[in-house]
Amino acid sequence: QELQLNLEQIEKNNFDHFMLKEIYEQPNAIKDTYRGRLHAEEGIIRMAGIDDNLERFLNARRIVIVACGTSWHAGLVAEYIFEDLARIPVEVEYASEFRYRNPIINSDDVVIAISQSGETADTMAAIKLAKEKGAFVFGVCNVVGSSISRETNAGAYTHAGPEIGVASTKAFTTQITVLTLIALKLAKAKGSMSNTDFHMHLQELETIPQKIELALEANDHIKEVAFKYKDARNCLYLGRGFNFPVALEGALKLKEISYIHAEGYPAAEMKHGPIALIDEEMPVVVIATRKGHYEKVVSNIQEIKSRQGKIIGIVTEGDTSVRELADHVIEVPDTIESLTPLITTIPLQLLSYHIAVMLGKNVDQPRNLAKSVTVE
Ligand code: G6P
Repeated sequence: QELQLNLEQIEKNNFDHFMLKEIYEQPNAIKDTYRGRLHAEEGIIRMAGIDDNLERFLNARRIVIVACGTSWHAGLVAEYIFEDLARIPVEVEYASEFRYRNPIINSDDVVIAISQSGETADTMAAIKLAKEKGAFVFGVCNVVGSSISRETNAGAYTHAGPEIGVASTKAFTTQITVLTLIALKLAKAKGSMSNTDFHMHLQELETIPQKIELALEANDHIKEVAFKYKDARNCLYLGRGFNFPVALEGALKLKEISYIHAEGYPAAEMKHGPIALIDEEMPVVVIATRKGHYEKVVSNIQEIKSRQGKIIGIVTEGDTSVRELADHVIEVPDTIESLTPLITTIPLQLLSYHIAVMLGKNVDQPRNLAKSVTVE
């Protein structure tokens, strides 16, 4: 038994849980994702799955993304990135809804299926349906040789390495990395981005692992914040634009492992419902980085404050406006707007991790959840 324990310790690389280990692996995982693909100096992105099928992508009337859970959130981030950079219309669907609603799919549609495990039953069924209707199906999977990676017409692996914790972390950020590379590649081929902008994005993407390292340095501070809110019954997560899906993912992480009820919302939608829930008992995590609708988010924060909600702001280094209003701020390094999700996700993962640990929950294997859902 002692041997068993030691082995597990080695596997966890001396981290207390797989989830924490996987959170800390993200800088390297992202490097592994873009290694051999991103050539920032030369201004080239190489991805065989895209190069070989470039015409299909460029002639696509639209891209439909199908996925479940955290992978669906990565799809939502991708929607913002694809539309902004490559100017291709994107729809994101829960695979389970898509497969049963008689969707309109044509042969000039490209379907991107995102799945960490490559085994999710609903996602697999959605792929089969899309193929039957003549669409070209591209897979973004982590597990090499998985069912979905084999069923799709082409694909790109995330290369995040094995993810053991049920709550997905490094799979999410590496999915976003792959999808960003694809969007940039298509943008370049379509000419929807200026050369300068394209080069700037490539160079910035290369700095993301380093910036995640810096974001991880807030861990001790995040632990203190976690201690303050561990007994909350509810929690609200708000973000706008590229960071709206990050708010959804932050809320999902908290729900999954701490069993605290949490909801993610686009910050501006707060006034259409969730604002009614805000009182001095309600922690509200707001992603308020300096890029993208910053002033608008600050005014949302004011609305929360005037109702005595407790504000935890995820802010850009050196921020002063949110600091004045918020109960706590967690700083992250600055980056270009479309890449902020890769950074803002980090403190949210750590926050839910510490809360769950403090509550004594089984972080790596939360109740009622499975790592891959191979049944309907
Ligand atoms: C399960 C897991 C989630 C995951 C989802 C989709 O619910 O617990 O972490 O996001 O399935 O899984 P997939 O392997 O298709 O990404």
